[in-house]
Amino acid sequence: MSTLPSTSTTGVRPLVAVVLATGNRDKVRELRPMLEGISPSLALYSLADLALSPDIEETESTLEGNARLKAAAVMELAGPMFEWLIVLADDTGLEVDALGGAPGVRSARFAPAPESASPSYEDNVRHLLHSMAGAAGRAARFRTVIALKGRLPSGNGGSHEIDETVEGRIDGTITPERHGAEGFGYDPVFLPDGSGKTFSEMSLPEKNSISHRGRAISKAIARIRHLMTVSGFPSISTGNRP
Ligand code: IMP
Repeated sequence: MSTLPSTSTTGVRPLVAVVLATGNRDKVRELRPMLEGISPSLALYSLADLALSPDIEETESTLEGNARLKAAAVMELAGPMFEWLIVLADDTGLEVDALGGAPGVRSARFAPAPESASPSYEDNVRHLLHSMAGAAGRAARFRTVIALKGRLPSGNGGSHEIDETVEGRIDGTITPERHGAEGFGYDPVFLPDGSGKTFSEMSLPEKNSISHRGRAISKAIARIRHLMTVSGFPSISTGNRP
């Protein structure tokens, strides 16, 4: 496999490739400005940019396990392409106390469906409300885990392995009925603590400012900024660092 250039177009600065282990274009579009604002030495790639389409089965029983599994699988493919890189892989789940933490890692496939088909968001919400009928409490939380896996230069001319996770969470309750039309997934029935609106009644920026994913991304950005600075790469000061 050929190695992509590890220097910038000026030929002076080594580049760090940040590879998003997702095929979801919306996620890539949302993350690009945030990640590219970390350092002029950072270049962002999606799986599509690298013509990678790994078939990764999420077989672990925890969000951490699945995020690590995805990051490791993509690292194996993208690792030989770059000298310095960080792979980011995320996994998200809704955990409902009255259901013993379900749907959790099964959030995308909570409602019964044939093996070959995925339930729709609507199927999952209906199944959730049905499963919670008569429940004593409605407390729940969203958790997003992002795994960072990669390789950066160390001070002594060698390299430093990166293998860590960050987590963002938001606590709330499951409303007995749907409210709002924005968002996706379980948004119409998730009421964040301290808010009078479900996620589906919020604009995207409003949701992102408090959401599990927004919080996990802020932490991942802070870690990348720190790791790159320690490795000697210049960083862009934003004044509103995560
Ligand atoms: P993923 O790990 O990001 O693919 O998320 C797994 C599943 O969790 C999705 O299919 C959705 O059902 C649900 N989910 C993830 N993030 C959200 C969110 O922000 N709002 C509502 N549902 C979500």
